[in-house]
Amino acid sequence: MNAGLSHRAEMHALQVELARTRALALALALGDENRKLLIAAGASQSREAEAQDAQKRQTALLVMVAHELRNPLMPLRLAAHMLDGARGDDAGHARLQATIKGQVAQMSRLINDLVDGSRMGAGNFRLERTLVELVPLLDLAIETSRPRIDARRQRFSCAMPSGTLKVLGDAVRLVQVFGNLLDNASKYTQEGGDIALEVTRGAGVVMVCVRDNGIGITQEALPLVFGMFVRDAHAAASDSAGLGIGLAVVQQLVKAHEGTVIARSPGKNLGSEFVVTLHAYASGPV
Ligand SMILES: Nc1ncnc2c1ncn2[C@@H]1O[C@H](COP(=O)(O)OP(=O)(O)O)[C@@H](O)[C@H]1O
Ligand SMILES: [Mg+2]
Repeated sequence: MNAGLSHRAEMHALQVELARTRALALALALGDENRKLLIAAGASQSREAEAQDAQKRQTALLVMVAHELRNPLMPLRLAAHMLDGARGDDAGHARLQATIKGQVAQMSRLINDLVDGSRMGAGNFRLERTLVELVPLLDLAIETSRPRIDARRQRFSCAMPSGTLKVLGDAVRLVQVFGNLLDNASKYTQEGGDIALEVTRGAGVVMVCVRDNGIGITQEALPLVFGMFVRDAHAAASDSAGLGIGLAVVQQLVKAHEGTVIARSPGKNLGSEFVVTLHAYASGPV
């Protein structure tokens, strides 16, 4: 296939993907799940005002989804065009490749969130659980979140016990769980802030804690953050866009692994901590 043709084919594939996601977002936005109000809406309104508010938020959600998905398209399109000119320029080529990888990763994450959100609503999550080593999975999750953490010049620290640590899990899904928590930690922490991942063993369990010293979670929002489309008011007001799906998916996935996930925060601007607890296995359960 010549370059022009393959480029057109790629763009076409992208457009198809985008159209599919838009359709999905529409289905989502009109679904029951989406009727929940964001916390920012406040609790003491009449039913009518609540319904109007929900309607407004559904529209806003759609706009946001479309916007978020359109954002990476322009740099992708540009990079695709510029690849021809970068022949023989190794550094330029590497920069373009990094742009493409970064944008595709961001888009995939959003699309995966949407797909998972809709699957979750339909109640058909399917896991393929095998006995897997947890540490390499955590390393993979760190690798996927690292570009964002580095771009925000945040300090990242990691503490894991030595030796094998096995869980009965779906490798892809577990990477998604921890990648999501790390992404949130980076997104909701100021530039130059601190993010830590810490693994500890308990009796028959392993606990993975993702901690940051970022914008924190208010006491009102704390019990609700695992709900679909729920965002804390000050997080939604910050310039970091989000759909409020990630943590709902995290919780469902952890539950499907017979584990638990909890959120802790002393309050606004005081940092947050998410702890995932899973059953640990040696050769059999320990
Ligand atoms: N590490 C964190 N620090 C502060 N707030 C957080 C953190 N992680 C999640 N939250 C809060 O929980 C909400 C829901 O998170 P999530 O479902 O991942 O949605 P999104 O990332 O799209 O905002 C966020 O909007 C934010 O209010
Ligand atoms: Mg998130």
